[in-house]
Amino acid sequence: MKIPIYDRIGGSAGVQAVVEALYARMLQDPEMAVFFEGVDLIQMKRKQRLFMSQLMGGPALADTPDLTAAHSHAVHRQGLQDAHYDKLVEYLRSALEDLNISTLLANEVVVLIERLRGDVLGREQRKAA
Ligand code: HEM
Repeated sequence: MKIPIYDRIGGSAGVQAVVEALYARMLQDPEMAVFFEGVDLIQMKRKQRLFMSQLMGGPALADTPDLTAAHSHAVHRQGLQDAHYDKLVEYLRSALEDLNISTLLANEVVVLIERLRGDVLGREQRKAA
């Protein structure tokens, strides 16, 4: 059986490092930072770490957050859209590279995050051909 991404990326500490590196980049970009004004970043990163852990095949959450609901304010009131999601993916790639995650593993992580685009942005995911 294939070893879960969660284990290959270094378990809880590995995922935490990815979340820290990703959000450091997001918050340095004024276009992205606006979405996090007034947000409790400690809690936000904690939720992200737990969510991403589950996503990567790590420990399951008792309650999986509804990503559409969680981002509805950002989408409808602050204009969160594809261009921002593209940036997140770009920052994720650069974070993974900085952490010396192999390109192959990084690609697998990016595929997982791309699958959530429709949910986060509140629309039906276009079916892959
Ligand atoms: C550009 C893209 C994104 C932006 C700007 C963004 C921004 C935000 C904001 C502002 C919140 C609300 C924080 C709060 O009020 O407490 C949030 C929550 C959350 N986001 Fe994102 N997000 C993005 C993409 C993603 C992606 C790709 C994921 C999945 C890996 C994700 C997972 C979550 C989770 C799990 C929560 C917490 C939900 C909860 O339990 O309340 N977000 N995000």
